[in-house]
Amino acid sequence: MALRHGVLYLVLLAVVLVVRVESGKNWVLIVAGAKDYNNYFSQADSCHAYHTMLNNSIPPENIIHMSYDDVAHDPQNPFQGNLINVPGGPNLYPGCKMDYRKEEVTPEVFLKVLTGDKEGVKKLIGRDGKVVDSGPDDHVFVTMVDHGGPGVFCFPGFVELHNTDLNNALKQMHRENRYKEMVLYVESCYSGSMFEGILPKNINIYSTTCSNAHESGYMCCWDKTREVYLGTQYGNAWMYDTDKANLHKETLYQQYEVVKKACNVSGTVSHPMQYGNLSMNKEVLAQYQSKAEGYQPGVCLNTLEADNTLGPEFTFAGIDLNNPAIDMVQIATTARRLIESRDLSGEKQEKLKADLRHMMLVKEKAESLTKDLVKAALSSPRGLTETDILTGKEQVSNSECYKTALGLFSARCPGINMGKYPFARRNLQAFINLCNHQPQTDVMNAIMEVTEKYGICRAL
Ligand SMILES: *[C@@H]1O[C@H](CO)[C@@H](O)[C@H](O)[C@H]1NC(C)=O
Ligand SMILES: *[C@@H]1O[C@H](CO)[C@@H](O)[C@H](O)[C@H]1NC(C)=O
Ligand SMILES: *[C@@H]1O[C@H](CO)[C@@H](O)[C@H](O)[C@H]1NC(C)=O
Repeated sequence: MALRHGVLYLVLLAVVLVVRVESGKNWVLIVAGAKDYNNYFSQADSCHAYHTMLNNSIPPENIIHMSYDDVAHDPQNPFQGNLINVPGGPNLYPGCKMDYRKEEVTPEVFLKVLTGDKEGVKKLIGRDGKVVDSGPDDHVFVTMVDHGGPGVFCFPGFVELHNTDLNNALKQMHRENRYKEMVLYVESCYSGSMFEGILPKNINIYSTTCSNAHESGYMCCWDKTREVYLGTQYGNAWMYDTDKANLHKETLYQQYEVVKKACNVSGTVSHPMQYGNLSMNKEVLAQYQSKAEGYQPGVCLNTLEADNTLGPEFTFAGIDLNNPAIDMVQIATTARRLIESRDLSGEKQEKLKADLRHMMLVKEKAESLTKDLVKAALSSPRGLTETDILTGKEQVSNSECYKTALGLFSARCPGINMGKYPFARRNLQAFINLCNHQPQTDVMNAIMEVTEKYGICRAL
């Protein structure tokens, strides 16, 4: 009896271990959503992903890469034409091909590229561009990295991709039979909010995010010479894992466990999440991140791993300067430059101090403005108190109102520039909550009234 069970077990084990990577084409869409030298991590991550996919034998014509591409040649970059993802790592810029650059990197172009709409892309940018031209047998892998906010992933500047629009595009692709299965890795603060409660479980899509719907993701890899954070905990963890793993053996779930561990360093814990059809996480990475033919496990660009081990505690205004939250990257970068660059001229030091003071002021004003905004919008409350609105963690249910409110706020308060100051987006949860409960006109009137009162709104 025991023997028969043992044999049965071995047979089952053998079945599980036979890796079946399905045929059909592989498509990979890589998005760096940020611009500006301080956001180095975003373009470094995306070039790393590009090389990793190429190295794993995904045909170059099936890889699409969107990146603003201003960091490698930014005058502040002491190594022109050079992008690394970890201190001492290889230069990822040479050969890092981009299909959409500069002003072409927008949510609208992204959605057309994703849904394979060549005509739509041409209409938007006035030229032909590569799209995910996938069919019913194909596997699609999407990876995107930038700042985000509740219910939004951001493109260069404060141009938001809303969770509703992303999920509508995914559902459309499913209806149009544009893939067999799809996997998305999304890295931004609040990235869980891009899928939580919205991504259907029955359209063959599986996603992981670097954080849950209500928290930041975290940076890693400060580089003393470049004076920037080179990477992120989640992004660096999955890519270096992919670079060294045997993709025919390791599953999506195992990679999820790797990123969970990497994002759990003391003090700066984010909670990577899984969404969609969770049964898909039993599939091997090779299904999405490599092509069966030509891929050789262990032959990889770089196996140098990010050093997530913390040195002595190192903070500024409560912000961890070893692994700051992604949306605190500007404050953390400026603080570190000031602290570490002893040989700076007095003038440069004064400039950094002034920048830091201004950012701290924007942070504080954005918080108090949000409180006043909530008060004004609740002049005729519909059953909820100010505290409910300020602390509630609701999902976007009135997307139209939320979009309009963000548009109006940005226009009325350019001083709290959420493109430049991603930390100000932490207050956006209150906008979502307000839109869910109050009439849209009350929310808009409150924005008009309150932005009028705050001098910071016009202080550019
Ligand atoms: C989830 O994915 C698995 C594996 O591909 C599939 O067998 C199952 O039918 C899917 N479930 C749903 C609800 O679509
Ligand atoms: C983080 O790591 C600690 C210690 O290694 C462990 O006790 C804890 O459960 C982990 N937390 C999460 C959310 O995984
Ligand atoms: C893959 O990595 C190897 C080892 O670093 C490198 O020699 C090779 O050029 C890479 N291939 C591609 C296509 O990037």
